[in-house]
Amino acid sequence: MRVVFGRPRKCFTNFILGCFPMLRTYPELTLDKWAQKYGPIYSVSLGNQLFVIVSDPGVAKELMITNGAIFSDRKPTLIKSETILVGRGITANRYDHQWRKHRRIAAIWLKQQSVERYTDTLDYEATDMIYQLCMDSKNGRHINPQPYAGRCALNNMAKITFGFRTDNIYHPFVKQALALSREFMNTTGPMSNLVDFMPRWVQKSLPWKMKRCGKRLHTGLLETYGGRIKDVEMRLKEGVQVQDCLAKTMITIKDEEKLDDLDMTMLASAFMIGGVETTASVMQWFSALIPAHPSIQRKAHEELDRIVGRNRLPTIQDEVKLPYCRSIIKEVARCHNPFWLGTSHVASEDFVYKGATIPKGTVVVLNTWSLHHDPKRWIEPLEFNPDRYINDNDSASTSARRPDVYTRDHWMFGIGRRMCPGMFVAEREIWLVVSRMLWAFEMFEIPEKPVDLKEYDGMSGQSPVPFEIVLRPRFEGVEEILAGELSRTQV
Ligand code: HEM
Repeated sequence: MRVVFGRPRKCFTNFILGCFPMLRTYPELTLDKWAQKYGPIYSVSLGNQLFVIVSDPGVAKELMITNGAIFSDRKPTLIKSETILVGRGITANRYDHQWRKHRRIAAIWLKQQSVERYTDTLDYEATDMIYQLCMDSKNGRHINPQPYAGRCALNNMAKITFGFRTDNIYHPFVKQALALSREFMNTTGPMSNLVDFMPRWVQKSLPWKMKRCGKRLHTGLLETYGGRIKDVEMRLKEGVQVQDCLAKTMITIKDEEKLDDLDMTMLASAFMIGGVETTASVMQWFSALIPAHPSIQRKAHEELDRIVGRNRLPTIQDEVKLPYCRSIIKEVARCHNPFWLGTSHVASEDFVYKGATIPKGTVVVLNTWSLHHDPKRWIEPLEFNPDRYINDNDSASTSARRPDVYTRDHWMFGIGRRMCPGMFVAEREIWLVVSRMLWAFEMFEIPEKPVDLKEYDGMSGQSPVPFEIVLRPRFEGVEEILAGELSRTQV
């Protein structure tokens, strides 16, 4: 069976490695360069695996939405799905009965109406993060906001998943959980492990370092998150009051839903991995970008002073009244999507597209870097310019449902039936943090320590390399308002 889309020749002349050597760093950029030469859909090989790279919204819609019944599978991979998630992780699960069950259970906590119920938690964590930043950056002390964003996103997910939170960035759970997420991102990108694309006999016969790393990560998930579920289970058995959370829900329905300990651990891990590093990454890129763009910052301050004033913090209800602040978030997502290559979909049967066959088992990668930088849609696509979104009042989920996919705001949350179920909670968390940081601080670059806005950390998930900035409260009373809000809304 032949795929007749264009293809970079080198990929097919190196029979063992395919394109792998060319995709080790910043693969989205190489893939974008090839898109310019080979068009909006082309094929590459990695080891013995055929990939189709999609770089156009219309093609993405045709395959992954219109033909979502065919393009919603995932590839079983040695490292991610078999070694780390042992066949149970919702993100890596095949498109089957087990995936449907896990997705349904995840939705109990992630659907829009559920997020309304715990918005007070998100609200509190955002204020707590800004307050901690305010205290730790006093008198012009240089500060790296990254661990603060990491802990805020972590607390939100820990509260939703286990009914638990940490009280400062030095809590051991913060270090442990953030290290697990980072390691997961680095070992599981769509093109991270050539071993996943070798024949099975090669995979079995080689003592791969990545496999050891995968086993270590699996044990880490069992100990860290499996341990927390056991703890919730024990407290429930002892009749101790346990706050509503995913763990409690799963324990309550486990017989009726036939969930075993591994199912529960891996579903909780999906929340802790999928929902922490990603959301934190957007908050971190925001903190890295804003000090380098003082005029954008001034415009946001003007909008906040006009609509919210200086006597209270911006809230969820203010979001529709603050289009410029909202545009900043969309533009951060466009310029710095945490996963340029998302999570790949797989064809579960042969499919003919424009006369070419995409064979069953082909991995379909959406290169969102190309979609987010298409010069036909975006003027000066490399520029950070929130004004491009000023008339876009839709949330990311509403935008993702637009019939005309060429007008979608961004592709950060993926597409089709596997689209991120955490997008409602993520958008809300990011709004609360970003609008409140803008409200509270003037943010400055440190001339001798310029923030690197190009390099990024990680193979699959990207966040900025460590940086420091200066945060100056915008007016007297910021600290008091934050402290007052914290004591009023204690969760
Ligand atoms: C800015 C934050 C986030 C980004 C950029 C993000 C991105 C993504 C992407 C690209 C996918 C794959 C979509 C596809 O296959 O087309 C995904 C899936 C997923 N995300 Fe998120 N995510 C974020 C936040 C969250 C949060 C807060 C949660 C909460 C638990 C979450 C849970 C999940 C889960 C469980 C899946 C697997 C869905 C499936 O395979 O059916 N994500 N996410």
